[in-house]
Amino acid sequence: MKTHQFEVVVVGAGGAGLMAGLYASKSASTAVISKLYPARSHTGAAQGGIGAALGNLEEDRPEWHTYDTVKGSDYLADQDAVEFMCKEAPGIVYELEHMGLPFSRTDEGKIAQRFFGGHTNNETTKPVKRTCYAADRTGHMILQTLYQQSIKNKVQFYDEFQVLDIIKTDEGIAGIVALEIATGEMHVFHAKSIIMATGGWGRVWEITSNAFAYTGDGVAIALRHGIPAQDMEFFQFHPTGIYKMGILITEGVRGEGGILLNGKGERFMEKEGNAPNVKELASRDVVSRAMYQEMKQGNGVDGERYLYLDVTPETVNKYAALDGRTRPDGTPYVVTGEEILGKLPDIIDFCETYLGVNPVTDPMPVQPTAHYGMGGIPTDNYGRVVVDKDRKEIMPGLYAVGENGCVSVHGSNRLGSNSLLDLVVFGKFSGIEAANHAKNSEYIPLPENPTEYAEQQLDALRNADGDERLSEIGREMKEVMFEHVGVFRVEEGMKEALEKIRELKVRFKNIKIDDKGKQFNMDLLNAWELSNLLDIAEVTTAAALNRKESRGGHARNDYQERDDENWMKHTLAWLEEDGVRLDYKDVVFTKFEPKKRVY
Ligand code: FUM
Repeated sequence: MKTHQFEVVVVGAGGAGLMAGLYASKSASTAVISKLYPARSHTGAAQGGIGAALGNLEEDRPEWHTYDTVKGSDYLADQDAVEFMCKEAPGIVYELEHMGLPFSRTDEGKIAQRFFGGHTNNETTKPVKRTCYAADRTGHMILQTLYQQSIKNKVQFYDEFQVLDIIKTDEGIAGIVALEIATGEMHVFHAKSIIMATGGWGRVWEITSNAFAYTGDGVAIALRHGIPAQDMEFFQFHPTGIYKMGILITEGVRGEGGILLNGKGERFMEKEGNAPNVKELASRDVVSRAMYQEMKQGNGVDGERYLYLDVTPETVNKYAALDGRTRPDGTPYVVTGEEILGKLPDIIDFCETYLGVNPVTDPMPVQPTAHYGMGGIPTDNYGRVVVDKDRKEIMPGLYAVGENGCVSVHGSNRLGSNSLLDLVVFGKFSGIEAANHAKNSEYIPLPENPTEYAEQQLDALRNADGDERLSEIGREMKEVMFEHVGVFRVEEGMKEALEKIRELKVRFKNIKIDDKGKQFNMDLLNAWELSNLLDIAEVTTAAALNRKESRGGHARNDYQERDDENWMKHTLAWLEEDGVRLDYKDVVFTKFEPKKRVY
């Protein structure tokens, strides 16, 4: 076992972890540990952009961004947190620009902005260009920029280190335990502040845009330490994943004029009951549900469970003319193949590589794909973990940011391009706060055997000598979750899912790990990751089963209406010996009264 000491340790090197590490390192010794090489983090999959009311192409205001985010959340977001994020947004985008992020540009040289779903001019209710982008590589550019800045600022990186545990003693948070993947050696990071930024858990579902690494490690570790997870029933399905593979096709495609068509060639988003005003630019929950309904009615392409996303210039120009869409100078919006290629190069590359389809000449087969967890470890605006329903009990020294945190700015449904914003805004403020905490506190002594719990977990997996295969347990979990805890849910299906997950957890104890070695033992680590996914699947399903209403990403066929009287509240879920315990906490309102959402 090796021991290291840093004032601040960040776990995860995506956008949130890097931003937190960068800011912490300005005043405290800081390490970032990551199971991946940082620039390969899943933030890279956020292609289309980062939301900020810069108003570079048309009038926009942070207050409009705030309202759209609250409305998009189906009024479950905490409005004080949303106000904070949207107010910080323009400044932080310019900060990224000054760090060297190569944003795409307008003709005047300003940061380019595009349409994304649910972002509107609040006066006209028409879509507004609010999403700042670097072609369709915005997440990648954020990673590169923040990684370079972190290196410059002497952040210590521990790449390919798998976090296994938080060290929590009677006195408080003392550090983390991680496994060096290359050697199989245990490392203890003794720290005053720990920032969990391990990302999401989309790998719970069969079709997902999420990277293999997205196994909910941070949330699962927190649950094992008696920390609740908040709003886990709300998981976003992005409307446009590549059919059967789930790989993301950015919402930026629709922002650039791409149209969703059913198997009959109809533009179904304009149908009454879908989103006749903003059509393809409605919030993601609305678009994904409309797609499911189309497919259920037999309107999928060739009767299959996919639809077309069409960004060919012919289709874009036809519908732009019908919608009366214009360029900023008032001339009709007409695009060429070269412009599409220039704005969406990666998407075109993905489709050619994985499908043999060129989106400039042919439509893309798409289906909704599990994309983003709105819930996570409950925090305040400074990333501090808040463990009780009255928001009074903070766990000193522990922070959570990015997708594994829940502040909550997304409520029950996140607007596209607000995740990159969430990462950098709350990453920055948690980094500052964690460094302040470190400067004003002493190291909590390490317990005698800090790696004991982590070793026990790995030993149990290593020594299990049953006949269950990880791949089979994983497959059954993903299938049942996609079928019953996906875009639409009903009581009976969720009960079946919960029973299945509990059965799988029992069978999991009877697995067999073939690799008994130490170096790069991915068999072992995949087993540990699957145990995290199973815990998260159980918590998600239990929370979903109990919420008897439809709101944002939680759509129930048996309770189709939003029920503000009974369910305008956040869920808190604890994972206990005998299952999941649920409780609820109030939503913070500042100025927006809940209304029925119309897009
Ligand atoms: O569609 C996208 O480019 C994804 C962005 C996001 O999830 O915010």
